[in-house]
Amino acid sequence: MRSRSIPEPGLTTLGNLDLFERLGEGGRSTAYRGKREGRDVAIKVYKDLALAKHLRKMGGNLAEFEFERNRSFFQAPGLAPYVAEPIDCLVTDEYSAIVQELLVGDLYYFFRQKRGAEAVIELRPHLERIVELAHAADLFDLDMHSLNVMVVEENGTAIPKLFDFNLIPFHVRPPNPIVALLLTLGLLNPRSRDRRLLRNFDRAGKRHRKLLRYFPGS
Ligand SMILES: Nc1ncnc2c1ncn2[C@@H]1O[C@H](COP(=O)(O)OP(=O)(O)O)[C@@H](O)[C@H]1O
Ligand SMILES: [Mg+2]
Repeated sequence: MRSRSIPEPGLTTLGNLDLFERLGEGGRSTAYRGKREGRDVAIKVYKDLALAKHLRKMGGNLAEFEFERNRSFFQAPGLAPYVAEPIDCLVTDEYSAIVQELLVGDLYYFFRQKRGAEAVIELRPHLERIVELAHAADLFDLDMHSLNVMVVEENGTAIPKLFDFNLIPFHVRPPNPIVALLLTLGLLNPRSRDRRLLRNFDRAGKRHRKLLRYFPGS
C-alpha cells in the first residue's frame, strides 16, 4: 500500500472526502481542512517516507496505527474532551489518510506567542490532567509538545487538545538495546518521557525545533 501523491491545496477529492486548504504539516503527514458527509473535518495524508518507515519499524500501515491509537485516547475515561475525535481511516493503493474532528484554534506555541505567558498558566492543570488520565489508561509516550497541542476556546475557556497520535511509543519499540534493557529491568518507566516533556513544555526540544521549519515565519 502506498500513498503516491500528497494532494495540492485547493479542491481535491479523496474517496468520499473533499479537501480544501492546507491546515499544517508535521514530519509524517500534511493536514487539510475538508468535508465528509457535510461535516467540516481535518484530513491527515501521510508522507511516503513516513509510511515506509512505519512499515519497517512496526509492520502495518501508519494511518491504521494512528487511527487506532487516536481511538484509544478518545475512549479512555475522561480524555474525550482533550482529544480530536477520530472519524475515519482510508487506505488505498493511492494514499493513506485519516479523518479527524477539525480543531479550530491555535497551536499552543502560537497561542503562547500571541497571548503571552500568563495566558498559558491556566492550561497547565489541563496538560497535567491529560498525562494523568492517559497513564491511568496505560497510554504512554504522548509526544506532547507545543506544536502537537491545539488550544481551542470553548464557552470562554481555553482547552488544550491532542491530535497527533502516530508516534510509536518507546516502550513498544525501544530505539536501542540499552533502552530495551532498562525497560526490562524496570529502571526506565514508560511514563518518564511524558513527565519530562510536561516539565519542559514551554521550552522547545530538539524534535520541536526541527518541526518549526514547517511553520514559515515562526
Ligand atoms: N485535527 C486537526 N485540526 C486542525 N489542525 C490539525 C489537525 N490535525 C493536524 N492539524 C495541523 O496539521 C499539523 C500537522 O499535524 P500532525 O498531526 O502534528 O502531523 P505529524 O504527525 O506529521 O506531526 C499540525 O501542527 C496542525 O497545524
Ligand atoms: Mg505532529
